[in-house]
Amino acid sequence: MIRVLANDGLQEGAIDRLKLAGIEVVNNHYDKDKLKEEIKKFDVLVVRSATKVTADILNEAQKGNLKLIVRAGVGVDNIDIIKANELGIIVKNTPNASSDSVAELAIAHMFSVARFLGDSNYTMRIGEWNKKKYEGIELSGKTLGIIGMGRIGKALAKKASALGMVVIYNDIFGKQEKLPYEFFTIDEILKKSDFISLHVPYDKTKGSIIGRKEIGMMKEGAYIINCARGKVVDEEALLEALDSGKISGAGIDVFAEEPTKNEKLINHPRVSVTPHIGAATKEAQNRIGEEVATIILSFFNK
Ligand code: MLT
Repeated sequence: MIRVLANDGLQEGAIDRLKLAGIEVVNNHYDKDKLKEEIKKFDVLVVRSATKVTADILNEAQKGNLKLIVRAGVGVDNIDIIKANELGIIVKNTPNASSDSVAELAIAHMFSVARFLGDSNYTMRIGEWNKKKYEGIELSGKTLGIIGMGRIGKALAKKASALGMVVIYNDIFGKQEKLPYEFFTIDEILKKSDFISLHVPYDKTKGSIIGRKEIGMMKEGAYIINCARGKVVDEEALLEALDSGKISGAGIDVFAEEPTKNEKLINHPRVSVTPHIGAATKEAQNRIGEEVATIILSFFNK
């Protein structure tokens, strides 16, 4: 019998579909040491971001039957892909399921920083009424520079355009001919944008995309939104720029270390923070579950 370990949980609908096809699903979380013992007993490992699928876990997996790892989400940075490839273990993700959810969160952070939602929620709760302090800006008419025009970038571009924002973009694959938005180099995006939103994976060989130099090139008082990966933005450089006023605000869903210990960043009055919840909507999670089940069923020709 094919055995699936859903180490970070899996939607009930997906579990039911797999069970109907005669696949056993263990919906249980094992911590690292226990996972090293148990992994040999499974054909498939399903993870979200909590489980780190390291080389030592994969070496143990190789002693058993593991053939497939499914990342229930987009980023596969918690999986040692090189090692998995070396061992012939296939890695798949669910790139289609959460684009609208992440794009909506990026928009939410834009509104939040433009209208001081985080700080005004906090100060009202401690008894303040700072009506004069919170004169914000409209998103309408502002230029949004999207770095990374994949599925999420495109979903964001559509929503931002509908809000009256002027969308410009950069992507490592270059200009995408069919898009109704202007393509610019990263330097030009930095110079032209009122808001920059990042939708790229983190590449440790390249380091952060937004550091001191890049912030220096941005418009005075621009905003940064990061719902991609924490290390894509240099947190120290961002804090300095927030303190100096060079950057008016930042909407941050992802952190260099998670859970973050960067108290200065999360408590900054010009920062809107969420704990990596880009894909955390009922709709995205249901779609992710469906996609995970489909991947497993087609892998085993079921
Ligand atoms: C993803 O990569 O799918 C998102 O960042 C959400 C997550 O990590 O769970």
